[in-house]
Amino acid sequence: MTSGGNTIIRSVCKGVGSFLPRTVVTNNDLSKRVETSDEWIRKRTGISERRIAEDDETTVFMATQAAKNALEHSGLNGADIDGVIVATTTPDNTFPAVAVSVQSNIGAQHGPAFDVQAACCGFVYALSTADSMLKSGLAKRFLVIGAERFSSLLNWEDRTTCVLFGDGAGAIILEADENGTGDNSDRGILSCHLHADGTLRNLLYTDGGAGTTKSAGHVVMEGQDVFRHAITFMSDIVVETLDANGIEASEIDWLVPHQANIRIIEATAKKLDMDMSQVVVTVDKHGNTSAASIPLALDVAVKDGRIKPGQLLLFEALGGGLTWGGALLRF
Ligand code: ACO
Repeated sequence: MTSGGNTIIRSVCKGVGSFLPRTVVTNNDLSKRVETSDEWIRKRTGISERRIAEDDETTVFMATQAAKNALEHSGLNGADIDGVIVATTTPDNTFPAVAVSVQSNIGAQHGPAFDVQAACCGFVYALSTADSMLKSGLAKRFLVIGAERFSSLLNWEDRTTCVLFGDGAGAIILEADENGTGDNSDRGILSCHLHADGTLRNLLYTDGGAGTTKSAGHVVMEGQDVFRHAITFMSDIVVETLDANGIEASEIDWLVPHQANIRIIEATAKKLDMDMSQVVVTVDKHGNTSAASIPLALDVAVKDGRIKPGQLLLFEALGGGLTWGGALLRF
């Protein structure tokens, strides 16, 4: 979208933030609940611990804390935010959206506020939605959050799923910069790529919902099939994202992947011929936090000084649906 002269609008990152629940649950803790072991979980997934929300740590609460953290990082106030999008599968209420509560909690009562649901790929979908709205001139600044209390959807007697997930929230503030050149040296989001294949929806789903059982249900997953598709689609999406920008894998500074399983992450890094030292990994400490995992990982690597302004970041995710997507951001 041109904005006068030869410049284009870019969605530039102004701040990041996150929140983790206070309670740490280790693999050994889980081995007291179901028949599993620290060794099995680490070997198959790379996870050693995860945070599980207490009753007061609702999705709205976690999203609000992550939002406030991102505002602080950016030096902006809630009133500077024109729009809020929350990617979540676990809203406090079926409606209103988590986003309207966050909007109210940070004092940003203008512009749109809504939730996006694309399971573990939700953050990439939300990022792409905000980018499109900023490019269309609908708003100047968007707060994009991934927030999940996924523990609420788990059957704590099913060892094949309950060991994989955790709770948390991450946030990013995007601002429309009208001085982009259109070149991939611009700061901001360079491209987003979204996909879904609903014929694969029975591989990963909850067995309930307001429209059927009148409750949220529990996660059901065909683990091996999801794993197989994740390897293929994650490899495809990184190639698609690089090709769309005319960029070589060697130009990527950081891969910030959805944190589902270290083996999926390693396979994607291998496809890119990237050393694991260039991959942000939090799955060991956070487990799979669904839509929150990418912004949580981003915040960790920005705040510990690994990710620096001007560096090129590649996001990729796959979730129930199946949904999958990627995004390229010059930080
Ligand atoms: N502890 C101990 N044993 C277990 C556990 C557990 N927690 N869970 C399953 N097992 C057993 C199984 O019952 C099976 O036993 P059997 O051989 O006697 O039948 C054995 O371990 C092997 O099970 P598999 O399912 O073959 O194990 P696999 O190596 O495929 O690993 C896993 C399972 C980790 C779920 C893997 O398939 C996976 O990561 N899939 C991707 C799923 C995923 O990440 N989903 C998240 C959402 S989508 C996303 O974010 C990408």
